[in-house]
Amino acid sequence: MTHPIIFDTDPGVDDAQAIAIALAHPEIELLGMTTTYGNVDVSTATHNALLLAELADKSIPVAQGAAAPLVKPRHPAPAHIHGANGLGDIELPSLQGQAESRSAAQFIVDTINARPGEVSLVAVGPLGNLAAALQLDPTLVDKVKQVVVMGGSIREGGNVTPVAEANIFNDPHAAARVLTAGWPLVMVGLDVTHRCVLTPSHMARIEAGQGKLGQVLAGSYAFYRAFYQEMLGIDGCCPHDSCALAWLVKPELFTTHRGHLNVATEGEAEGQTIFAPENRGYIEPRWSQTPLADVCLGVDGDAVVEWITATLA
Ligand code: BDR
Ligand code: CA
Repeated sequence: MTHPIIFDTDPGVDDAQAIAIALAHPEIELLGMTTTYGNVDVSTATHNALLLAELADKSIPVAQGAAAPLVKPRHPAPAHIHGANGLGDIELPSLQGQAESRSAAQFIVDTINARPGEVSLVAVGPLGNLAAALQLDPTLVDKVKQVVVMGGSIREGGNVTPVAEANIFNDPHAAARVLTAGWPLVMVGLDVTHRCVLTPSHMARIEAGQGKLGQVLAGSYAFYRAFYQEMLGIDGCCPHDSCALAWLVKPELFTTHRGHLNVATEGEAEGQTIFAPENRGYIEPRWSQTPLADVCLGVDGDAVVEWITATLA
């Protein structure tokens, strides 16, 4: 089966690897990329998305989107994790192409309406573009095939606050709209991405298999890996965004649970994702009133990392 997708992204070192997968995997048809601020500002995200496709000799539409969160002020980009240029501060080749004139949200609306029921939205950054697309065309909830979100955390705790994952924390108001919109949605969060560790030997295989793009993936990974070594004490990194594509193509590697998602939009728990399993009674019904969604809580991490590596090697 082939999966036509729109990839919504803030590249970003782990985004870059996921983009390489979306460009390379024979079962993924990459219809376009939409960009958002997050790991970098949005113009750098757009630059990187265009450049990564060019390095793979592919011509893919890239539409620029959200430059800031819907409500709260924008946090500074995490240059200590992804580098100021989003790709580990390595020297990059120059870019030839340019972005679409359409906005990311309009691109999402047009692309899904052109093929109702067929297109999956895979979102691996803050969720402003998806929220804006829903605002433009609420009928997307019935026309998108599925929405795969890398973001959130249920049992694992957060990576930017004690309880919040970065993509959700970056725009909790957008995340609240997207995670409760009632479209077919799966959340691929830290509960599973932290079980996947891509080691230097995996990266050596990827570098060898990806030509010019492989050099950028490996060079940026070296920077990203230093952060993981310091913060989590692991020799390797968590390929968060590639896990969303692993779920798309290999859902059997994951355990999902169905239930209701809520997002805390303010206060100490800002950006926290809250999961109420289907049919579980609580003291009040308020956590169980959002539409049902699927949440990944278990994964065969070694198999996911091997799938990523084999796809790119
Ligand atoms: C997510 O945050 C970003 O920094 C990564 O690219 C990934 O999408 C992980 O929390
Ligand atoms: Ca990302």
